[in-house]
Amino acid sequence: MPVFVFDAYGTLFDVHAAIAGHRDAVGPDADRLSELWRGKQLEYTWTLTLAGRYVDFWTLTERALDHALARCPSVDPKLRRVLLDAYRVLDAYPDGRDALVALKTQGARTAILSNGTFRMLASATEAAGLGPHLDAVLSVEAVGVYKPRPEVYRLVVDTFAVTPAAVVFVSSNRWDVMGAAAFGFRTVWVDRTGAPDEYHDLAPRHRLASLAELPRLAAGDPM
Ligand code: 2OP
Repeated sequence: MPVFVFDAYGTLFDVHAAIAGHRDAVGPDADRLSELWRGKQLEYTWTLTLAGRYVDFWTLTERALDHALARCPSVDPKLRRVLLDAYRVLDAYPDGRDALVALKTQGARTAILSNGTFRMLASATEAAGLGPHLDAVLSVEAVGVYKPRPEVYRLVVDTFAVTPAAVVFVSSNRWDVMGAAAFGFRTVWVDRTGAPDEYHDLAPRHRLASLAELPRLAAGDPM
């Protein structure tokens, strides 16, 4: 049975839950603020990695929120602390938790592979109660570069002593699926929003609307 490896932010944890939980206080620009926050957070990982620099994901998350708040002057900047605290304990998607539990029941090995710092991932997995369903929590902190650099995906094959073809990598981020496919993983794109496909030459092996479909697919192998 392959090793099942999950992206964290956007795949197991709902990155928009931090702002959704404070929607009334944030006001009418809540969705714009959330999109800007996430967009800048990812942009900083890509641009710094291209420049040969590394700054940890928590610091980039803070800087991205500061930028998003500056672009949304209707939002009270005093919410900064509250929103960052909420980001540490994001809601887990119920379909993600159920999929992890079912895969463990089927005897699979499971892991997270994330841009998040070890500290962020420990806090989020503990808050969501996911720890007992994971064999490993792997962070880019170990290599000091961000996805989609191949060094990041290599952490999985080194940890589990398997070939890339023995790994099923699951992400809601299409660019992350692209990087994982380029590395040689079998890939699953969780497309919860019905987004148009991208990176056609590095396509996912499966495209699912929800992680609820994953255990059934895994049980039916070949994936
Ligand atoms: C993660 O690595 C890409 O944010 C995403 O968890």
